Amino acid sequence: MASGKGGVGKSTIAVNLATAMADRGARVGLFDADLYGPNVPQMLGIDDKPAHAKDEQTLLPIKRHGVKVLSMGMLVGEDEPVVWRGPMVDKVLTQLWRDTAWGELDYLVVDLPPGTGDAQLTLLQKIPVTGGVVVTTPQDVAVDDARKGLRMFEEHDSTVLGLVENMSGFVCPECDASHDVFAHAGGSHDLNREFDVPMLGAIPMDPSVRTDDPEQNPPLADASAEVREAFGALTDATLDRVGAVRRRKVARGEGHEPTIREDAEPPSP
Ligand SMILES: Nc1ncnc2c1ncn2[C@@H]1O[C@H](COP(=O)(O)OP(=O)(O)O)[C@@H](O)[C@H]1O
Ligand SMILES: [Mg+2]
Repeated sequence: MASGKGGVGKSTIAVNLATAMADRGARVGLFDADLYGPNVPQMLGIDDKPAHAKDEQTLLPIKRHGVKVLSMGMLVGEDEPVVWRGPMVDKVLTQLWRDTAWGELDYLVVDLPPGTGDAQLTLLQKIPVTGGVVVTTPQDVAVDDARKGLRMFEEHDSTVLGLVENMSGFVCPECDASHDVFAHAGGSHDLNREFDVPMLGAIPMDPSVRTDDPEQNPPLADASAEVREAFGALTDATLDRVGAVRRRKVARGEGHEPTIREDAEPPSP
């Protein structure tokens, strides 16, 4: 889940996509790779720390709504500001991912921090990703930032699964009509043409998308029919696209097994 910009709904989309995939019977992990503002635990109402396995090094993810979750926020607390320097981010992320006992998974959803910085690069270099989902909103600034995200994937020859337009129109609860909130709607469609990447879905701006409300569990329990429908369609499109990309990679002999690249040095303990 990537985008150049914060606050566009990456974590919201990641959490709801992961829980929706688990609902459909898949074995799903959710890795919160935002070391600066890890808010996935809060979104899922997780306030306990992950246990260690017997070897005292391996972390056991915490299961919520069928999803195995691991976040830096579960280790340091979400409100404690931690200042990570670039090389640290690299090490910590790789180590966190590698030291977690994910078990057998069909999908691992990774929630990225905003930007095109260290976390993103570490991930693209060391964790074998099937592809990235770029989240944007109809605002021009968000579209510009999403373009940077798309270029980053391109420069690393990483597959972009597609785009999600979040806060795409506001469904007025009174009149049921959809209104464009931002001046320049349709920016994601421009990107979709410019980069030749599919649109995976569009999620309306809706107050019932309240992943920051720990009372609402699972996160979409009280969401409107429009929101649930939109996430359902997004999940279908994403699963289809992941399947297609994996089949293509297997056909090319690239496989999709989580193999670590040879040039990726394991972090020193
Ligand atoms: N479709 C939506 N409708 C209404 N609020 C939303 C929607 N998507 C996200 N939000 C809210 O916007 C805020 C930022 O979302 P978040 O997922 O944390 O963004 P990011 O991870 O990109 O920084 C959160 O308070 C979230 O509840
Ligand atoms: Mg986030």
